[in-house]
Amino acid sequence: MGTRLKRRSKDKKMPKIRQKSMEVALSKAEVLIEALPWMRQWSGATIVIKYGGSAMENLELRSKVLEDILLLKLIGVRVVLVHGGGKAISSLMGKLGLEVSFKQGMRVTDDDTMKAVQMALVGQVNTSLVEALNKFGHYAVGLTGADGCILRAEPLDLSLGRVGKICEVDVELIETILGSDYIPVVASVGFGDGGSYNVNADFAASQIAVALGADKLFFLTDVDGLYADFGDKDSLIAQMGVEEAKALIGSKGLSSGMIPKISAAVESIEGGVGQATILNGTSPHSILIELFTNEGIGTEIHKEI
Ligand SMILES: Nc1ncnc2c1ncn2[C@@H]1O[C@H](COP(=O)(O)OP(=O)(O)OP(=O)(O)O)[C@@H](O)[C@H]1O
Ligand SMILES: [Mg+2]
Repeated sequence: MGTRLKRRSKDKKMPKIRQKSMEVALSKAEVLIEALPWMRQWSGATIVIKYGGSAMENLELRSKVLEDILLLKLIGVRVVLVHGGGKAISSLMGKLGLEVSFKQGMRVTDDDTMKAVQMALVGQVNTSLVEALNKFGHYAVGLTGADGCILRAEPLDLSLGRVGKICEVDVELIETILGSDYIPVVASVGFGDGGSYNVNADFAASQIAVALGADKLFFLTDVDGLYADFGDKDSLIAQMGVEEAKALIGSKGLSSGMIPKISAAVESIEGGVGQATILNGTSPHSILIELFTNEGIGTEIHKEI
């Protein structure tokens, strides 16, 4: 239990100013009531959240995401957080004097780069997310893909070094941690023969979601969702079926980080996850708005529409 919250002392008479604040309080109560059926729907559900490195740069905005995650946990959602951290890796590599190089959008990962990936993802990003969640209580446990053999990987392409393709997922440890009422926070580092592998966090999240039989998978990124054509800001897609998403993967409207994300979303739905939603993690409380209000936001991908 945290410290007990104190309520304002009650006045004997009700002055005008207090009447005004009662109206505000009432409208807050109405917001909670609007959320009630949604809370009932999501309480007890399993939700995997992939938190993109691009969306966690600003600490103030990051704290809004973490507040949403805590609220989910407190209403009984089984939340699993999976994170990347591309920017943190590149920045650390710069400080260590390592050359950053990408091939087909993937980071060429030699042995020294792999050490930097671990230092940045596990040592910095994972620890910092766990610390921030645990500021409010005993809530989070930090993990890498090697813990409990969560993410077993094999080389994707030898010319990319230690870039790994996930070949096996084991969620027993994640289930144990969820069963003990903690939030597992997983860094997207895989392990396999010969040590650690740099695995794509979108796929790590989707495969963990599939293995858990998750009800929902969020991809928190730094844009409002998926644009049919990224150059056209009016082309934001609110929802679509898997077949439509698959057709987009090969189109010219989709580039860079959105290609693995949509492929991972498709993979998750085909693997039985209820819905996959691409959401802007830099827009305050986007998770709460998406889950608990009548205004759906972001891009939702599901089996049938
Ligand atoms: N059609 C599209 N719609 C939306 N975003 C797109 C599209 N095509 C390309 N993008 C790009 O994809 C980016 C999101 O993927 P990116 O890999 O950069 O972030 P992330 O996956 O959230 O973070 P990280 O890779 O660090 O975990 C957006 O910032 C945008 O520039
Ligand atoms: Mg990405």
